[in-house]
Amino acid sequence: MIILAIESSCDETAAALVKDQTEILSNVVSTQIDIHKSFGGVIPEVASRLHVEQISSVIGEAIDKSGLTMDDVDAIAYTKGPGLVGCLHVGAIAAKTLSWYWNKPLIAVHHLAGHIYANCFVTQLKFPLLALVVSGGNSELVYMKKDYDFDVIGQTQDDAVGEAFDKVSKACGFGYPGGPIIDKLAQKGHHEYDLSMPKLEGRYDFSYSGLKTNVLQTMHKFNTHGQTINPENLAYDFQKTAIDQLMRQLKKAIDDYHPNQVILAGGVAANSYLRQSVLDLPHTYPNLCVNVPPLYCCTDNAAMIGAAAFAALKKHGYVDLSTSSDPNWEIE
Ligand code: KG4
Repeated sequence: MIILAIESSCDETAAALVKDQTEILSNVVSTQIDIHKSFGGVIPEVASRLHVEQISSVIGEAIDKSGLTMDDVDAIAYTKGPGLVGCLHVGAIAAKTLSWYWNKPLIAVHHLAGHIYANCFVTQLKFPLLALVVSGGNSELVYMKKDYDFDVIGQTQDDAVGEAFDKVSKACGFGYPGGPIIDKLAQKGHHEYDLSMPKLEGRYDFSYSGLKTNVLQTMHKFNTHGQTINPENLAYDFQKTAIDQLMRQLKKAIDDYHPNQVILAGGVAANSYLRQSVLDLPHTYPNLCVNVPPLYCCTDNAAMIGAAAFAALKKHGYVDLSTSSDPNWEIE
């Protein structure tokens, strides 16, 4: 089965052709990062307009690169939500138009499910599993007893972890998007600043706004004493505190749920310290399988939506042309 998948939930316009869930025939991503950089973050209205400009050529390029034609495509999948409403609508309308014109059935996919199923390109999912889904909009710990079955056991009480990387980076003048910049700086740094880990209410929940304030206060303290901050060391201590929090909650969940596998998902899964921390888990849990997705499918792309579409189809079937986007779509 060949699926044409479309993703447009935030600032990447993307299309891909995926065969039998695990084989990527093409994967085209047009990122808007350079345009949003000048604003220091994603401006929803600007993002929607750029999707309108890009979507046709991105889909055309994905089909061309696969070497196939629309006649070879069996179904069309698109990100129904969550995401920015105007952005989601552009992808949904493109998918529905193609579905109607070419008479191909439609599959609605959850964006976070896409991030989770990106792991299918390099490993087989072994249920029950725990997925740590970390991106610019999400920090969620998801327990999956079986295929396309999601139980959110932990989530952020305030900012998402990627959002914290982006906000701290912006406030410190490091640049946008913060995640990759802080990751790179941290590799040259060492411990200097004591940043506190927040007290967490929920059993497996996360919190990042306190850590962000802590970094800003540290900067302010140094500045008022006429001292300069060492960017590499600040990046190191922020990254370590932020990621150690994720790992602490993840380990609690492993102890309680005894999963067969732990997988990483989302843009922050590209973080080198987080990847190594997850890959090190079998030292503590020898029977645990772990997987980190390849870097090319950590941040938003359509191949991951294609992979998740196969499982979404088995669980929920096709949707009709009246299905709308849902910016607040719950995964459970
Ligand atoms: O999944 P994604 O492309 O979009 C969302 O759905 O949010 O994730 C983007 C987020 C941004 O916050 C970005 O700063 C973060 O992922 N990110 C990273 C790294 N690469 C991207 N965060 C930490 N370390 C990285 N290497």
